[in-house]
Amino acid sequence: MSLPFPVLTAEEAAELIAHNSTIGFSGFTAAGSAKAIPAALAEKALREHAAGREFKVGVLTGASTGESLDGALAKAEAISFRTPYQSDATLRKQINAGQVRFVDMHLSLLPQIVRYGYLGPIHWAVVEACDITPGGGIVLSTSVGASNTYLRLADKVLIELNAMHPSALLGMHDLFEPMDPPARQEIPIYSPPDRIGSPICVVDPKKIAGVVLTKLEDESGGFDAATPVTDQIGENVAEFLVSEMKAGRVPPQFLPLQSGVGNIANAVLGALGRNKAVPAFEMYTEVLQDSVVPLLEEGRCTFASTCALTLSPETMRRVTGNLDFFKKKILMRPQEITNHPEIVRRLGIVSMNTAIEVDLGGNVNSTHVMGKTMMNGIGGSGDFTRNAYLSVFSCPSTAKNGKISAIVPLASHMDHSEHSVQIMITEQGVADLRGKDPHERAELIISRCAHPDYRPQLREYLKLAKEGHEPLSLSLGLAMHRQFLRHGDMRGIDWEEFR
Ligand code: COA
Repeated sequence: MSLPFPVLTAEEAAELIAHNSTIGFSGFTAAGSAKAIPAALAEKALREHAAGREFKVGVLTGASTGESLDGALAKAEAISFRTPYQSDATLRKQINAGQVRFVDMHLSLLPQIVRYGYLGPIHWAVVEACDITPGGGIVLSTSVGASNTYLRLADKVLIELNAMHPSALLGMHDLFEPMDPPARQEIPIYSPPDRIGSPICVVDPKKIAGVVLTKLEDESGGFDAATPVTDQIGENVAEFLVSEMKAGRVPPQFLPLQSGVGNIANAVLGALGRNKAVPAFEMYTEVLQDSVVPLLEEGRCTFASTCALTLSPETMRRVTGNLDFFKKKILMRPQEITNHPEIVRRLGIVSMNTAIEVDLGGNVNSTHVMGKTMMNGIGGSGDFTRNAYLSVFSCPSTAKNGKISAIVPLASHMDHSEHSVQIMITEQGVADLRGKDPHERAELIISRCAHPDYRPQLREYLKLAKEGHEPLSLSLGLAMHRQFLRHGDMRGIDWEEFR
């Protein structure tokens, strides 16, 4: 097909982008991330720096991205500002060293914040597509993220046309952008397969500055192998949901599931699929990871609405090899829709996310190690947790070979409050916090979720902190964290040392 747009090399495309530009890239996880242009932009930044000139850009995406985007740009020290989520090791270091400004925000809110101009003008949208029409119709690739909003609002557009993703993905996307208040209306999704928007994005062809032809796989990494701990967490989650169904609190046809990112979430979904007492289920989620593909094939998962196909290259090939089947089973939507509170509440979603730590009140920290060091970001966990019918958090009871307890007196950073967190699950068991007062919650979290090594000292804390509606000691709340920083292990605390 001949296109009425300049066909550029990635280097030529990168040359068009000036220092201090704000760029809205495609990419929600490594799925559908722009690859060739950011990698070339990183090379350009290195050349500019070597020549003694400043070169940095503001990077907006859907969520985390792949090595060629966050990885390459961070290594080239080419990022001045980043939002809304990341998971790259180099970028994480730069954020924590104060070299990159990072705004951690609810993913569902990002497109609205961009529309209202809080992040300034979007100079460029750099978006991966699997097809493009002469009239500016763009078929996105393996994710949507916030690409629809960036394409609409950006001054100029660059497209990476990736031959690795078949143009037959057309029809797998459902693009819908709500109006802003007071014109906003309901988002008419009443069950996960409901299609409400367009399969393509259409941009003014005059904005398209060029098309770069690529043939590149998504850079989605695999997962750590399941361990007895992650398997046990998965089983605990599955058994808890089955018991909710038996108690009549989850209907026999089940409720749509949302599952977070990472190793634990992948293991939890695998366990749900294996547990035959869990009926076939639908997913209304933001990330579809490898473990769901066999469940779709086997009919254990009957439909998945997602923002991204975060699949390893092998699993992606399995999907593209059987597209007629998977196009009936998967819809990809913008993050503003996949994570929208209205729909999460309407569908009665069961949200399953992972905590870094949880405190005795049931407040969850998903983002900051020892309260200060950013791990990845809140992602969509808050969008789902606050609005879910049933909000579940899980994590191993300890981290770093037992030296850190995930159950702490007071969370060192708080992303999800006790008012939103209903169920806490570790490999030790399940704490159902619904309808419990703060003292009951604390006792349940210690007895059901804490590692046995930590139960006695957490109970000692409770005795020291028992006055008041919340069992809290202002002086000792963070003592276990301070114990770790002083002694390299949270175990064996002498509470007197921290009084
Ligand atoms: N203190 C210090 N480090 C901790 C910790 C704690 N309390 N809890 C976990 N960690 C470390 C682990 O040791 C591991 O470190 P490593 O990479 O050096 O091995 C790392 O955090 C990841 O933990 P892991 O147990 O492998 O879990 P995960 O891959 O499932 O990731 C989160 C867990 C919380 C980091 C991840 O789920 C996340 O970023 N969540 C926030 C965003 C989110 O929920 N998005 C989904 C919404 S749809």
